[in-house]
Amino acid sequence: MRMRKKKNLEPRLAACARVNVPWEGAPIDWKAVFGNDHPLHLEIGCGKGAFTAAIAARHPETNFVAIEMVANVAVSAMEKIMEAELNNVRFLVVNAENLLDIFHENEVDRIYLNFSCPFPKRRYTKHRLTHENFLKRYRVILAGDKEIHQKTDNEDFFDFSLAQFQQCGWELKNITRDLHHSAWAEENIMTEYESRFTALGQPIYRLEAVNNK
Ligand SMILES: C[S@@+](CC[C@H](N)C(=O)[O-])C[C@H]1O[C@@H](n2cnc3c(N)ncnc32)[C@H](O)[C@@H]1O
Repeated sequence: MRMRKKKNLEPRLAACARVNVPWEGAPIDWKAVFGNDHPLHLEIGCGKGAFTAAIAARHPETNFVAIEMVANVAVSAMEKIMEAELNNVRFLVVNAENLLDIFHENEVDRIYLNFSCPFPKRRYTKHRLTHENFLKRYRVILAGDKEIHQKTDNEDFFDFSLAQFQQCGWELKNITRDLHHSAWAEENIMTEYESRFTALGQPIYRLEAVNNK
């Protein structure tokens, strides 16, 4: 189903030009974009940006690039960052399939995958953001020994992800099947989807995968 364009999308995006980076097909010079060489963390599928805004405020020493392929959704995230006057976040409205044409090798220091669409139907397996085709791209842009942090409410998708990481030789650590009653609960930052699923009493699954290359 095609999503109808939100009313006022264009002027809202224009008002967020400071944080919305246009991608023209070539790798982006992130040091020039941010005006510094701080570590670069990438969030893929940021949705409306509650996590993005909170983690960026908590870590002003880190640069965050938030990717979201739906402009209607991304614009809400951009507005949160504009409102909070944060200087360490930029957005790309692109499909993560393009990662290798956007980032240089070994340039990224962490990737966050928060409540990625599980795509439960078999014929859409390749769209899952932990499918081996995506893991291959992450391996290239993520520096050696750096991590992917994943959270999801979907047990089948979590098990699929664990298997994909293992098959592709990533080291797994700090795994929990009930994040909110685990050692990582205190430092956890909730996303929009996480708040929704937690309110329904669903456990949250979490893992870290290390880029052993
Ligand atoms: C289920 S939502 C979760 C949003 C947010 N991370 C949260 O936890 O509240 C997943 C988001 O990922 C985005 N997404 C899915 N596949 C993507 C891709 N290949 N590239 C970029 N964004 C993607 C969707 O548009 C959607 O906004």
